[in-house]
Order: sequence, then structure tokens, then C-alpha cells
Amino acid sequence: MIGLGIESSCDETSLGLVRDGKEILHLALFSQIESHAKFRGVVPEIASRAHLEKINLLLDECLSHSGLDFSEIAYVAVSQRPGLMGSLMIGAQMARCIHLVHGIPIVCVNHLEAHLSVVRLNIDQLQNSQEIKPIAPFPHLGLLLSGGNSSIYIHKDWNELELIGDTMDDALGEAFDKAASILGLGYPGGPEIEKSANIYEQEIISGSKKAEIPILPKLLKSQPHHELHFSFSGLKTALLNAKKDHPSISINRFCFEFQETSIELVLRNIKNAIKKTGIKTVVAGGGVLANTRLTNKLKEFALDNSVEILFPKNKILSTDNGVMVACLGYYLFTKGIKDEIDFQVSPKRIA
Ligand code: KG4
Repeated sequence: MIGLGIESSCDETSLGLVRDGKEILHLALFSQIESHAKFRGVVPEIASRAHLEKINLLLDECLSHSGLDFSEIAYVAVSQRPGLMGSLMIGAQMARCIHLVHGIPIVCVNHLEAHLSVVRLNIDQLQNSQEIKPIAPFPHLGLLLSGGNSSIYIHKDWNELELIGDTMDDALGEAFDKAASILGLGYPGGPEIEKSANIYEQEIISGSKKAEIPILPKLLKSQPHHELHFSFSGLKTALLNAKKDHPSISINRFCFEFQETSIELVLRNIKNAIKKTGIKTVVAGGGVLANTRLTNKLKEFALDNSVEILFPKNKILSTDNGVMVACLGYYLFTKGIKDEIDFQVSPKRIA
């Protein structure tokens, strides 16, 4: 069964075609980062206009590249929440048009949950193995780390998420963006900080610099051992002050320390969530999972603690994209879920 996914919740316009919730037939994606970079954040009006300009072109690309036509598409899944209202409306309108013209059923998708379905799009594993291991049976933990969310869920079933840990102030991606701004680096901040942190790490490994006692405070020591919520604003303020108080310290070292402490906090919360729930499979998703230091630390953590942690195998699948929407759409549609043409989009996480 082939499904089309439409994603336009924030600053990526993306459409994807997926077979049976597993096989990516085509992913078309336009990133608006360049248009927002000078504002150091997403400007909603610019985002909506850019979605409108690109979305039809991306649909054409999907169809021409895959050689499919509408008669072969079983459902059209669309990000319905959460996101920027004007941006969500563009994707929603395309789904409605396709439904009206071709009679293809609409499936509305929570795009945060779609991030947690992306691990099922493991084409390599599916192509190379005769015997396919079931991927992340329910219930499992969902770890979502993006520009707007740092959350832990118990993922009980499709469309059934229990929030057990949440963003108290800045989400992790947002904290990376703000830290980069404090350090005079570009936008988005995550990749910039990772790049600079790598340079510092290489200097230490090669011996050209000596490792020093961290300047940024180890915030974790003072926090309760059962904490599941995420707070990064204290770390951000510590960085701001340290930068003023220690002007001779290199930007690369600040990046390294900021990244290390953030990752430590993520690992602590996930450890607490595993302990609290007894659930030993974690599925991670969202833009911050593009960070290789984070994914390496997650792998190490999984080995040390005998748990399974799955995350997107490819950086492009960490970011907002149409194939994750088509993937989740498949699981909802095969459960019998479809939506009426007058569905409403929403900025909220809860329907
Ligand atoms: O999920 P996502 O693509 O979209 C939104 O939430 O809108 O996440 C974007 C966030 C940005 O804050 C960006 O700085 C962060 O993901 N990010 C990273 C990395 N790549 C992107 N954070 C840390 N390290 C990275 N390599």
C-alpha cells in the first residue's frame, strides 16, 4: 500500500511517498533555513509564503520521480498539529484538494508522533534481512528532541502517547540555537555548536590542547534523581555569564562543554524514565538527533544499561519530512483511521 505524506508544520516543506509504512519511494524536501537565518529564528509569515511557493513543485517531483500516479496512492497523510497555523494550513489545503479531485482518503497526523515512527523506515535492514525483527513493539518510550520540544512519552499505541517528561523552558534545539547566538555562531545553532565542539575534542585527543576543568557548572548534581523534565535555560545563562567572565576561553571549548552538559541531562532523564516505567526500549526522534555526539552517547548508554535505543539512521530523517508523515499515516490508516475534509489544523500538541 502506497501513501503520500505532507509536512508543512514549520520551516521545512516536504512530501514523501512510502510503501507499507517501510519503504521510502521518494522524499522531496525544501528547507527554508536560508530565509530565516538572518532573523535567527523561524518567521511565521515567511514560512507560510515559502510553503505556498514550493509545495506544488514538491508534489510534482514526488510523482515524476516515483513514476506513480494518484490512482496508485491509497491515502494522503498530513501534519495536522502541532505547528505554525499558517504553515499547517498550506499542507492541509493540499491534502483536501487531493481528496476532492482524486477521492483519496485523508489521514491527519501529529507530527511529533511522526518523528517517533521514523525508525520504521529502515530500508537497509528491510532489504538485507530475510527475517525482519519487529521494530519497537508497544509500549516503548519516545524521546523527542527538536527545536520546540524536549519530551519523553510512553508510546502505548499509535495515537496514544502519555507525556511523562516535558520542556520546562527552552527546548534542547532552541537552547542550542540561543547558545550559538551567545557565542556569535550562525543559525541554526545545533550544527554550528557540534562542529566547533568537534574541533575542541580533536585538539584534546591530538594533545595540541590540554583538557581543563569545565567552566560551565555541572547542573545535574543538584537535581533530583527522579527528574524527567528538561530545563536548559540555566545552562544557557551560565554560558552567557562564563563568556563575559572568561573572554580568553575559546568558543570551541564553550561549545564542547555546552554540548556535553546538555547530553548528560538528556541521558539522566532517559535513565530516570527507564527506571520509573521499567520500559527498556526507547525510540528517539527530532532535529537534535542529527547530532552525532548525542547519538554516539545514546548508543554507549544503551550498551552500558542493556536497553535498546533506536534513532533515525539518516540525518535527513531527523528533521521534519514527508516520509515520516506517510509512515505514521500508514499505521493509522491500517487501523481504520481517516479524517473528514473539514478537519482543523492546530498549534497544540493535544488534539
Ligand atoms: O525537528 P526540527 O528539524 O524542527 C523544529 O523543531 O522546528 O529541529 C530543529 C532543531 C534546531 O533547533 C537545530 O538547532 C537543532 O534541531 N539541530 C541540532 C543539530 N542539527 C539540528 N541540534 C544539535 N546538534 C545538531 N547537529
